[in-house]
Amino acid sequence: MHTEILKADREGILAAAAVLRRGGLVAMPTETVYGLAADGLNPEAVREIYRVKGRPQDNPLILHIASLDSLFPLVKTGPESERALRRLSGRFWPGPLTVVLPRSGLVPDVITAGGPTVAIRMPSHPVARALIEAAGRPIAAPSANLSGKPSPTTLRDVTDDLSGLVPAILDGGDCAVGVESTVIDLTRRPYDVLRPGGISREALSDALGEEVGDASRPRDGAPPRSPGMKYRHYAPATPLTGLVGSGEDSLRYLSSLPRAEAMAAVVFDEYREAAEALGYRVLAYGREADHDSHARLLFRTLRQADRLGADRIYIQISPERRGRGDAVFNRLSRSTGGDLVYLAGK
Ligand code: TXA
Ligand code: MG
Repeated sequence: MHTEILKADREGILAAAAVLRRGGLVAMPTETVYGLAADGLNPEAVREIYRVKGRPQDNPLILHIASLDSLFPLVKTGPESERALRRLSGRFWPGPLTVVLPRSGLVPDVITAGGPTVAIRMPSHPVARALIEAAGRPIAAPSANLSGKPSPTTLRDVTDDLSGLVPAILDGGDCAVGVESTVIDLTRRPYDVLRPGGISREALSDALGEEVGDASRPRDGAPPRSPGMKYRHYAPATPLTGLVGSGEDSLRYLSSLPRAEAMAAVVFDEYREAAEALGYRVLAYGREADHDSHARLLFRTLRQADRLGADRIYIQISPERRGRGDAVFNRLSRSTGGDLVYLAGK
């Protein structure tokens, strides 16, 4: 299949909307990560998303909307969930937040993987908004990576995964947030975060005036409430080891390793030169305390690190979970497949 790279101008957006309306797929930029978009009310089109990504059938999709009015036909709300929804949408929409609510009969089974709830988000990226409006319907969009790989946050990363597999990719440049939206479950109280992301749990609790729980780290044996959380994901092809602790502790650890193999290190900016001096192939993803930068650069840096041809990649990980630190830690626990070295006191 020929893949057209569309400029994100009026003409490109109308062409992309036409592809969506006839049941085709379009990769579109959002402020979090690129999404693989399809007409959310067309089950055939949505099935194509699963096929192209190689996504497990039991992992439901998010519907993207451009206005609050288009949410209500898709969900069932009660007075409590409607109050919560209005507080959250007033504060965080458009933006990197996804709400889970009981679904209405309008939502196809293939969106919810047959479940009774649906996930909905209003993205803030102007190109995504214009595309949803031009398509005139809710848009289903998972991250535009092949299943298992790091999510794409640059045009290059999308084309690497999807060239030849989709009719069109809209070029929106680099994504500003870099990790996916936070998913919050509004179907029961206390409300819980199912997946940490662009909006922190502290900010959600503050907006709701009540403590929001964390269901993103399910206890042993309990099935995850966000089905996507059970799969190994976001992983580079090269083995990846996370070093959790201060930059100084992880630098000490890097300097203690035998350097028989070709090794890469993803470090905080402050440690770039020191890691290079140790012989590592080095990439940096922001200053040690800058969790927004770690989030923004995480996935693209993992993909870049894969291209360095190393036998193993080490990555410095801040133990700090404030702000987007929580989402970065969550993604890296999964990219490393749990291969984390905790350095405190070592
Ligand atoms: O930022 C984002 O959310 C990006 C952009 C493209 O909007 N999209 C995204 O979609 O990350 P995806 O499909 O890669 O991740 C959706 C997550 C999965 O963990 C899925 O299990 C969860 O949302 N999810 C979807 N519907 C759900 C539901 N009804 N109940 C619980 N979790 C749900
Ligand atoms: Mg994804």
